[in-house]
Amino acid sequence: MAQDSRYNILFEPIKIGPVTARNRFYQVPHCTGLGWLRPRMAAALRGMKAEGGWGVVCTEYCSIHPSSDDLPHPSASLWDDGDIKANALMTEQVHAHGSLAGAELWYGGASTANLNTREVPMDVDSLPNGPGSPSQTRSMDKADIREFRRWHRNAALRAKQAGFDIVYVYATHDYLLSKFLSPKTNTRTDEYGGSMENRVRLVRELIEETKDAVGDTCAVAVRFSADETSGADGEPILGERRDMLEMLAELPDLWDINIQDYSLEMGVSRFVKEASLEPYMAFVKSVTSKPVVTVGRFTSPDTMLSQVKRGITDFIGAARPSIADPFLPTKIQEGRFEDIRECIGCNVCYVGDSKSVSIRCTQNPTMGEEWRRDWHPEQIDAKGSNSKVLVVGAGPAGLEAARTLGQRGYEVMLAEATRDLGGRVTREAALPGLSEWARVRDYRAQQIEAMPNVEIFRESELTADDILAVGADHVAIATGAHWRTDKYNGSIYETISEPGSSPQILTPDEIMAGRLPQGPTLVYDADHYYMGGVLAERLRDEGLPVMLVTPNEKVSAWGENTTERWRVQRRLLELDVDIVTGHVLNTFDGSEAVLKCAYTGRERRTEVEAVVMVSQRKPNDGLYHDLLERIEAGADGAPLSLTRIGDCEAPAIIAAAVYAGHRYARELDTTVNADNPLKHDRLFFEDA
Ligand SMILES: Cc1cc2nc3c(=O)[nH]c(=O)nc-3n(C[C@H](O)[C@H](O)[C@H](O)COP(=O)(O)O)c2cc1C
Ligand code: SF4
Repeated sequence: MAQDSRYNILFEPIKIGPVTARNRFYQVPHCTGLGWLRPRMAAALRGMKAEGGWGVVCTEYCSIHPSSDDLPHPSASLWDDGDIKANALMTEQVHAHGSLAGAELWYGGASTANLNTREVPMDVDSLPNGPGSPSQTRSMDKADIREFRRWHRNAALRAKQAGFDIVYVYATHDYLLSKFLSPKTNTRTDEYGGSMENRVRLVRELIEETKDAVGDTCAVAVRFSADETSGADGEPILGERRDMLEMLAELPDLWDINIQDYSLEMGVSRFVKEASLEPYMAFVKSVTSKPVVTVGRFTSPDTMLSQVKRGITDFIGAARPSIADPFLPTKIQEGRFEDIRECIGCNVCYVGDSKSVSIRCTQNPTMGEEWRRDWHPEQIDAKGSNSKVLVVGAGPAGLEAARTLGQRGYEVMLAEATRDLGGRVTREAALPGLSEWARVRDYRAQQIEAMPNVEIFRESELTADDILAVGADHVAIATGAHWRTDKYNGSIYETISEPGSSPQILTPDEIMAGRLPQGPTLVYDADHYYMGGVLAERLRDEGLPVMLVTPNEKVSAWGENTTERWRVQRRLLELDVDIVTGHVLNTFDGSEAVLKCAYTGRERRTEVEAVVMVSQRKPNDGLYHDLLERIEAGADGAPLSLTRIGDCEAPAIIAAAVYAGHRYARELDTTVNADNPLKHDRLFFEDA
C-alpha cells in the first residue's frame, strides 16, 4: 500500500546533537525482565524494534555501578568490560537497521536495597528504602558524590565503547538524581542542597561531564519530570520544574520528558487514556530549542501527527506501543493502518520486570521470544502441508490460532458458538474502563477478514459428531473456561452454601451477561487480579452496596505486578466499596455471609443478599474430552491431531491464551524438540 503523505512529517530525520535519528519514532527506555541476565534475548528484542522502524531504540534502566543493583528486578548494566560486550550485542542489532541506540544510565539510590551485591546504597540523605526493605541509604558525602560522578563518567565511556549513540542522564522516576532535585528530599546544607541552583548542581555536572566524555560522538539526553508533585490526574503541579528546565534548557542534546505519577505516566487503560501527558507538556518546548520526546501510549497515527504538528513533542516516545507492535512505524509509513496491533493498556508487559522473568505482551505473543524461539512478529514459515484446520471457539486463543494459521496459508475453519467473536475479551471489554481490551479481538478479526483461506462460522455450536463430520485434518479446541461458584481451600474445591440453603451465588460470567443482584452484595476475590475490583465497580455503578472480601492482604494483589493495584484500591475506596482483606469467605445462606480471619480464625458475620464468587475457573473442555474419547475409539473422520489451547487447556490471563493460540499455529507441522523447546539465554561465562 502507498505511503499516506499526511504522515510524512513523522518520518523526517531529526538531529540530536552529533547524531541523527532517521525518523521521529523513539522507543523510550523500558525494561524487559531480561537486562544483564539475558543479553541475547534483550539484543534481539531491541533489534526487532529497529527492524520495525523505530528510529531510536533505548535500553532499559542501565546500572552504572554495583551499588545500584535492583535484583530481583533485572536492569541492564555497564559495570565492566563484560557489560560492554553484552550491550554491544544490542547496539549492533539496532545499527543493522539504521537506528540509533540509547543507554539510560541509572543510579537507584533509596529505590534499591542492593540485595544482590550487598553494597551500601547511597542517596542524598540517609533515606529508607522506597520499596520497603528494612534498610536505609548512606547519606552521600562529598567524596561519595565525586565517586558517583566518576562512575557515571566511566559508564558513559563504556556506553560509547559498546556503540551507543545516545547516553542518558536519568533524573526522574524517584531515583537518586530526582532526590537531589527535590526541595522536599534534599535537605543538604552543602553546595548540593538549599537553593534550586545547588539542588540542580549534580544533574548539571553529570550533563557536562557526560558531554565532555562522550559528546563528540554521542548525544546526551536527560530524562526529566515536567511536574514537581503529583496532583489530580491531568493537573500538573509544576513547582520549580519550569525554572529548572529553563536553567538547563540548552545543556543536553535532547529532553525526554515524563511526570511524577508513574501510575499515570504508565497507567493502565482502565484509568488512563492515550496522550495523557499533554497537559504537563504545555511549557516544555517553549523553554528549549533542543528536541523533546514524551510518551502517552500513542497508537493512533493521527494523535501522533497532532502532537508533532501542535509542537507538543518532536519525537513520538513509546514503550508499550512499541512492545505491542514493533512494526508500528513501518505500518504507518506504508499506510497499513489496519495492520497496527494497538496496545490495550493492560501492563502485562511490566510483569517481566516485576517478577524477574522475560517480558510478555497480551497483543504481541512474539515479544521476548525473538531470540529464544526465533519468532518474528510479522513473518512466519509457510504452512507445512495442505491440511485443513478446524479451530473451535473464537476467543483470544482461537482467534490468534486462526489468524496465525491463516497467515501461514492453511485452509482454516473457525467455528464460534455465539454471534460474537472475541469470547472473554468481548465480555470483559464491556466492564468499566476495559473497552480498549476489545483491541485483542478487533486486530485479529480484521486480519482474518482479509484472509480468503480463513472462514468464520458464527452461531455454530459443534458437537463431537459435527466435528468428525467436518473431516478436518487438525482440530484445535479453544472453548475457554467459566467461573466457578465454589472456592479452592488449598486442597479441594468446596461450596460456600450453608447446608440446607440455596443462596444467590453469582459468578463474573453472570454479571457480564447482565444477571445482576438486586441488593447488598459481597464480591469475594480469591483471583487477586482485576476481575474482583472491576466487578465491584460495576455493581456500585448500579447503586448496590458492595463489600469486597479477599483472603489476601491487599485488594487486587497481583495487580501490583502491572502497577495498577494502587489505582484499583483508590477507585474502590472512592466508590465507597467496603473492603475487607485477610478474610476467607466460609459460608453464605442467602442473607448472611460468614467470614473467617486468615490469621486468628475469628468469625465475622455480614448481611448481604448475594455473593459474587471471583475465585477459580473451570475449563470448558467437555467437547475436547468427548472428541478424544471418540477418536480413541476409532471413530470415522478422526483428525490427525486434536489439541486444546488457551483457557480450555488451563485458565490463565488473556496474554497466555493469545500466546497459546499463536504457539499452536506456529508449531503445526513442525518438529519441536520436547526436551529442549527453546534456546537458553544466560550470562557469558568467559567474562566471569
Ligand atoms: C514494561 C515497561 C518497563 C519500563 N521500564 C522503564 C525503565 O527501565 N526506565 C524508564 O525510564 N522508564 C521505564 N518505563 C516507563 C516508560 O519509559 C514510559 O515512560 C511509560 O511506559 C509510558 O510510555 P508508554 O505509554 O509509551 O508506554 C517502563 C515502561 C514499561 C511499560
Ligand atoms: S502487555 Fe498490554 S500494555 Fe503491555 S504492550 Fe502489550 S498490550 Fe500494551
